[in-house]
Amino acid sequence: RTKELEEKLSNLHTESGKNLRSARWFDRPDDRAMSALYADRYMNYGLTTEELLSGKPIVGIAQSGSDLAPCNQYHTTLAKRVREGIRTAGGIAIEFPTHPIQESSRRPTATLDRNLSYLGLVELLYAYPFDGVVLLTGCDKTTPAMLMAVATMNIPAICLNVGPMLNGYDRKTLIGSGTVVWKARELHATGELDDTGVFDMVTKGTPSVGHCNTMGTASTMNALAEALGMALPGSAAIPAPYRERAQCAYKTGVQIVEMVHADRKPSDIMTREAFENAIAVNTAIGGSTNAPIHLCAIAKHIGVKLDLDDWDRIGHGLPLLLNMQPAGEWLGEEYYRAGGLQAIQAELLDQGKLHGDALTANGKTVKDNAAGKHSWDRRTIKGYSEPMKREAGFLHLSGNLFDSAIMKTSVISDEFRAEFLVDTNDPNAFECKTVVFDGPEDYYARIDKADIDERTILVMRGVGPIGYPGAAEVVNMTAPGRLLKQGLKYSLPCIGDGRQSGTSGSPSILNASPEAAANGNLAILRHGDKIRVDLTKRKVNLLISEEEIANRREELMSNGGYKAVEAHTPYQDFFRREVGPLSEGMVFERATRFQRVAQN
Ligand code: FES
Ligand code: MG
Repeated sequence: RTKELEEKLSNLHTESGKNLRSARWFDRPDDRAMSALYADRYMNYGLTTEELLSGKPIVGIAQSGSDLAPCNQYHTTLAKRVREGIRTAGGIAIEFPTHPIQESSRRPTATLDRNLSYLGLVELLYAYPFDGVVLLTGCDKTTPAMLMAVATMNIPAICLNVGPMLNGYDRKTLIGSGTVVWKARELHATGELDDTGVFDMVTKGTPSVGHCNTMGTASTMNALAEALGMALPGSAAIPAPYRERAQCAYKTGVQIVEMVHADRKPSDIMTREAFENAIAVNTAIGGSTNAPIHLCAIAKHIGVKLDLDDWDRIGHGLPLLLNMQPAGEWLGEEYYRAGGLQAIQAELLDQGKLHGDALTANGKTVKDNAAGKHSWDRRTIKGYSEPMKREAGFLHLSGNLFDSAIMKTSVISDEFRAEFLVDTNDPNAFECKTVVFDGPEDYYARIDKADIDERTILVMRGVGPIGYPGAAEVVNMTAPGRLLKQGLKYSLPCIGDGRQSGTSGSPSILNASPEAAANGNLAILRHGDKIRVDLTKRKVNLLISEEEIANRREELMSNGGYKAVEAHTPYQDFFRREVGPLSEGMVFERATRFQRVAQN
């Protein structure tokens, strides 16, 4: 099919070229001098007049990889094959950098950069003569930032994931990047690993170029980009170093030129049905708890109504099919070889759990692309009737502590169910006392001294979008070393107004909105307060009277409200003033007024 497409496209000296967006720069009959001025600097590295005036599509390659963003750095190599695809199909490639986002080393947190990168990319796509764009995605927030930007701009666009790293190993044991950190931290806390041992163990999870090889936020968001229809079918899961990855880069370049000619835009692909498909897929792959935030943000920018009740209603009742860390055993290579996302979609299609007629980047439907492509490897991708877990999606919770929070149920362990969910007569509810931390610094300072036993819920507040600008990934907290040494068999539950790493497996209640820094009721919580969590009723309540809540609120507000840490950079300050809550995607609300600006 690629060959057919190549031939068709390379011969297409478009009459439609005159209607291309880029012609407004390079082919202005009203002002030839202006056209010449727009064109001439693209010639100083060798493009010719013929090329720029040929009516061939100008295709951007939005480059998110650099030495500063190592997860995506291999894109600097893959971009060459993208260019060759674009050129073969008769387009002209212009590669440019986007604001880098590196999940694991950006302080205070990489989510802060998602909206910055979004704003930057919208500005570039608007300001320059692009007819379409290839989005080089990968590390966690690079994917949503780019999809948010093309949702706003609405010019033809397609994602190319950098792909996961190869599997990590310690002798025979698989070591998953990101996920290994939580294990290593526990072993260090109990004294089983020394400082060098921790370093060795963690870095074994990073054996090659590519993004995290676990089903963390990177694998999740790229699976969802494909599920939305915004990437070539079968592309998201290909490991970075595999030859198929570079071949996919070439095919993606060919495809974007076809999309420009067909005028197939993000608004044709990212419909309400597409978002519902992405929610269903997220449950089946055991996707990250960051996915609702990012998917809500993309939906907001394209103008599709989507909320967390949709996540619970569509996603919660579906099963987990993929046996991949952190919810399961395997890593990216097994996932890809077992059939990748299409094998998951095939299972969901059989059950009528996807909108099969949703359009995708290649002009075909989800059903055309994925129906019948079941996995041959039932160890890694389970059949729908024999899943890893049933009802594996997110719960949307509310109560007197917050209006909205989510919980990933696929990581609730059997040990936790057996030992924690037993104090009430309801097997789906528990009551316990809280220990409250104001930010990660407070947690590290007090975790070993605080009054914590095996029936405590750890609360992390002051780490939402305003409180810890960008919303820190710190809600998943490790129990104190002494409890781990005593043989605690499960992760303690956590609640917080921040996020949790997609590579973590704690039973946590996350993204609580409104956050403490917006004076939500998490701000009035005190050490030792009792909380009741009822998963059936989707309720989390602080067990104190209405009157006591009112009194504490009055005291909080008379003291000037919750004290968040200071902003340290100008952008942190802008971010705090403009940002909305995690429950609504943490977007700059003002930016959602600019949907589909390229058409204006
Ligand atoms: Fe970049 Fe995981 S830290 S993909
Ligand atoms: Mg993360």
